[in-house]
Amino acid sequence: MKRACRAAFGAFALGAVLHAAAADAPRPSSRGAGAAAARPASAAGVDYAQRFAGLCAACHGASGRSNASDVPVLAGQPAFYAITQLFLFREGRRSNEAMTAVAKTLTDDDLRGFSTYIGTLPPVPPPAPAAPPDAARMAKGRALAQQHRCASCHGDDLSGGQQVPRIGGQHEDYLRANLRGFKSGQRPGYTQAMTEAVSQVPVEDLDLLAYYAARVGAPAAR
Ligand code: HEC
Ligand code: HEC
Repeated sequence: MKRACRAAFGAFALGAVLHAAAADAPRPSSRGAGAAAARPASAAGVDYAQRFAGLCAACHGASGRSNASDVPVLAGQPAFYAITQLFLFREGRRSNEAMTAVAKTLTDDDLRGFSTYIGTLPPVPPPAPAAPPDAARMAKGRALAQQHRCASCHGDDLSGGQQVPRIGGQHEDYLRANLRGFKSGQRPGYTQAMTEAVSQVPVEDLDLLAYYAARVGAPAAR
């Protein structure tokens, strides 16, 4: 994976964060050397499950499925996607008041530790809706996803992989706001992939895509 990300993102500073992961791998000979000894030198030394419970779960939910519609579900997100986003928040290239404040406090080790932990959280499907989804809107959303080739990157079941996020079963409000953010330029993205993907898609269609993606993988209505 590391080779793939360097090839894709070469010159970006995240390359250095990812690269350091290899350099940080527990090496007994480096223990106790200088400043490194003053703090946990590697993600392996810190229990990120516990830190997640203390620092992140209040917003993102203990299982990684948040209840708030504007707080993204992290369960089922690939570790590589998570680290790109934590990095963007920390560097101020993706902004959100709540999340930026948290990200600013994170070290490179934390970026790796939290994203590795997120990558271990199994996907949690959305709860069964009270009423079945609107069949016409679902059909339109599915057709738009085909037309704009969303699945070519996000996968047929929209479960993502590597640097591409899972969007199936994500909160609709969050999806809608972020698709609009890519379109307006408010969310630049780590690469141009999403800016290009939505550049020709009218905003009303983005909303339909959000409606559709949020319901992919949901159990039938109660
Ligand atoms: C005060 C609430 C809050 C806390 C605490 C919080 N987050 Fe977030 N997080 C958010 C919100 C809100 C967003 C979505 C921001 C947006 O819409 O751009 C977000 C986005 C994210 C994303 C990007 C998800 C995606 O699908 O793009 C990741 C990864 C993330 N948070 C990880 C963490 C981690 C790890 C912690 C703990 C160290 C944490 N968050 C703590 C509110 C919070
Ligand atoms: C060329 C590959 C590609 C295509 C095509 C593509 N995406 Fe993406 N998508 C990505 C990547 C990569 C990201 C991560 C954004 C970043 O770079 O920061 C992403 C992010 C997203 C997000 C943000 C999810 C989150 O958790 O914050 C949404 C929503 C999304 N895509 C929906 C779509 C939809 C809907 C389409 C079809 C109109 C689409 N994508 C087409 C690659 C793609």
